Amino acid sequence: AGTGKFFVGGNWKANGNKESVSKLVKELNDAKLEEDVDVVVAPPYIYLDSVLNTLTKRIEVSAQNSWVGKGGAFTGEISAEQLKDLGVQWVILGHSERRHVIGETNEFIGKKSAYALNNGLKVIACIGELLEEREAGKTTQVCFEQLKAYADAVPGWKDIVIAYEPVWAIGTGKVASPQQAQEVHAEIRKWLADNVSAEASSQTRIIYGGSVNAANSAELATQEDIDGFLVGGASLKGPDFATIVNSVT
Ligand code: G3P
Repeated sequence: AGTGKFFVGGNWKANGNKESVSKLVKELNDAKLEEDVDVVVAPPYIYLDSVLNTLTKRIEVSAQNSWVGKGGAFTGEISAEQLKDLGVQWVILGHSERRHVIGETNEFIGKKSAYALNNGLKVIACIGELLEEREAGKTTQVCFEQLKAYADAVPGWKDIVIAYEPVWAIGTGKVASPQQAQEVHAEIRKWLADNVSAEASSQTRIIYGGSVNAANSAELATQEDIDGFLVGGASLKGPDFATIVNSVT
């Protein structure tokens, strides 16, 4: 951990039902969370309102996606303005599941990010390489192309957290080693210095995602350029998520 306040996000993905969501909110409300950590949870759209209304802790709420522009005739989409209206503070964009399952492109993700930021949402901007890209020695090239698409589109970096999520580590139980994660995080920070600004490089939090759990988070958190985590599976269990939040100390 190094830059800014430690940040831990829980990405619930398309998991849960009314019963499990209210149980999870209760667990989060009951958990003891370090004061000095920004904590954000990202429920599926349909539970955002109830989560916003039942969380009693100082936890912020994120959507898992938003539409690329102004709302209107876009069946099945949710606009940034609607999220803002509900009280949602964050949106996760560029997640690997949206890139590789849904087919979102760098350019589309850049546009979405700009629109969300311009409409008052903060953005968890995800990047990360596939296994074959890592094996071909293309990790930084892929991450830099993804970063450039954000940089070309967004109005500024102060409301962005970068989530480095190597695709081979997501949901696989194969967490990146602290050294593997640190190496890429340091490259990302250098890219920001060279291509955006010294300020963006020193102030943007770079969080790691991919098979983070209550047993491996503390060691990852010791790395200089790991400023937090984006947690999938382990964020569905309140006590585990609380352990991850508290792993920075
Ligand atoms: O966005 C979080 C994520 O993709 C990591 O998922 O289940 O490997 O922690 P998981």
